[in-house]
Amino acid sequence: MADKHARLTIDGKDFDLPILSPTDGPDVLDIRKLYGQVGVFTYDPGFTSTAACDSTITFIDGDKGELLHRGYPIDQLAAKSHYLEVCYLLFYGNLPTAAELEQFESLVTRHTMIHEQMHYFFRGFRRDSHPMATMVGVVGAMSAFYHDSLDINDLHQREVASIRLIAKMPTIAAMAYKYSIGQPFVYPRNDLDYAANFLHMCFSVPAEPYNVDPILARAMDRIFTLHADHEQNASTSTVRLASSSGANPFACIAAGIACLWGPAHGGANQACLEMLREIGTVDRIPEYIARAKDKNDPFRLMGFGHRVYKNFDPRAKVMKQSADEVLDLMGIENNPTLQVAKELERIALEDPYFIEKKLYPNVDFYSGIILDAMGFPTSMFTPIFALARTVGWVSQWKEQLSDPQLKIGRPRQLYLGDTRRDYVEIENR
Ligand code: SDX
Repeated sequence: MADKHARLTIDGKDFDLPILSPTDGPDVLDIRKLYGQVGVFTYDPGFTSTAACDSTITFIDGDKGELLHRGYPIDQLAAKSHYLEVCYLLFYGNLPTAAELEQFESLVTRHTMIHEQMHYFFRGFRRDSHPMATMVGVVGAMSAFYHDSLDINDLHQREVASIRLIAKMPTIAAMAYKYSIGQPFVYPRNDLDYAANFLHMCFSVPAEPYNVDPILARAMDRIFTLHADHEQNASTSTVRLASSSGANPFACIAAGIACLWGPAHGGANQACLEMLREIGTVDRIPEYIARAKDKNDPFRLMGFGHRVYKNFDPRAKVMKQSADEVLDLMGIENNPTLQVAKELERIALEDPYFIEKKLYPNVDFYSGIILDAMGFPTSMFTPIFALARTVGWVSQWKEQLSDPQLKIGRPRQLYLGDTRRDYVEIENR
C-alpha cells in the first residue's frame, strides 16, 4: 500500500496516483489504473521516464556512476569475483558457498557441448555471415532441439534452459567465429575454466597445442563480468517483452541477441573500434569531435554516452585498467588505436558539448581495444557481449516469470494517423 500519493487534475477533476518507493533510486508513480480511471495514456517513446517492471537484480545510479549486482558494486566483483560466481549471484540472488559454487561450475561445465546435429545449422550460413546473424539463428534453433527445457511453467525446465544457455553460448559464439574463418570447430574442454575454454575454442587448431595465457583468460573473464547484466536495457527489455507472451526461453534469448546487435546498443563496441581506426591518428580527432557535435551530421562518437549514466560508466573505468594490462602483456602498450582512444577521451571530456550533455565513455569504449589486442576480429565483439549478457537475460527472464502480476506487455500509442474514411474504388481515385 503506497503511503505517498500524487494528485493529477484533468478538466477540473482530481485523480489520486499512488507513489511507490524503491529500496534505492527514484520513487515511481503507479499509473496502472490511469487509463481505466482517467481515460488517458502516458506518452514516453524510448521509455526515458518509465519503470516497466520491478526487479531485485541490478541497480544503476547514473549520476553517481554506480552499478550494483544484487547489491554488490561492479568494481568489487570485477576485482574479487569471477564470471561464473557472478552468474550464480545474478541467477540465484546471493554469493554462493564454496560447495554451491563448485556444484554450479560443474553443472555449467557439463552443458557446454551443443547437440552434434546443430553443427549442420552453421553450414547453412555463408562463411562471410556476421557471427551475430549466426548466433540469432542457432540460439533460436535451440528450441528445435532441447524440447525437455521449453516448458516455462516448469521451474526445473526453466533452470535447465538457463544453465544450457549460459553454458552453450561460448561454444556457439566460438563456432560462429571458427566457421567464419574456415577453421574446424573446437570442442569445449572440461579441464578449462569458462573464459579459458572460450579462448581455447576460438584460437586453438587441431594441428598444434594451444595454451591459454592466464592473463588473457583473466581479462576475458573480467570482460564477461562487466557485461553480465545492466538493469532494463534495450535487449533485456526485449527478452522480457518476448517472454511476456509465453515464448520459450531460446526464442526469447534469440530476440535479445537480435536487439543487442544494433550499433546504439551492443553493436557499439564494434562500431567504436572501427571509428577509432577510421580516425587513425590523434591529429584527426578534432574533425570527428566537430562531426559528433554537428546536428546535421548523424555521426556520433561510438562508445560515448548512455541513457542512464550521466557520469563515468563504472565498467569503463575497470575496462580501461584491463586494456592497459592486456596491451602491456602483448607488448603493444603504444598501440596507436589505444593512443587515439585515450586522447579522444581526454579531449571529449574537456569539450563543453560533451560536458553539457554529460557524455562519458561507456562500457563499449575500451572493450573493443582489449578484444582487438586479444586477436578477435571486430565482428566478434558483439557476439562476446551477447555471450556475457546471457546470464543477465536469463536471470531477468526467470524473475519476470516468477512475478505473480505478470501479464503480456502491450503498450498503446499516440495515434496521429487519418481519422475514419471510406474506401474509394480505383476508378474514382
Ligand atoms: C550500451 O542501456 C544500457 O544499459 C546499454 C548498455 C548495457 O550494458 O546494456 O550499457 C550497453 O548499449 C552502451 C551504449 C553503447 N552505445 C554507443 O556507444 C553508441 C553511441 N551512443 C549514443 O548512440 C547514445 O549515447 C545512446 C544511444 C547510448 C544513448 O542515447 P539517449 O539516451 O537516447 O540519448 P540521446 O540520443 O537523446 O542523446 C542526448 C544528447 C543528444 O543531443 P541533443 O539531441 O540533446 O542535442 O546527447 C547527444 C545526442 O545528439 N549524444 C551524442 C552521443 N550520445 C548522445 N552526441 C555525440 N556522440 C554521442 N555518442
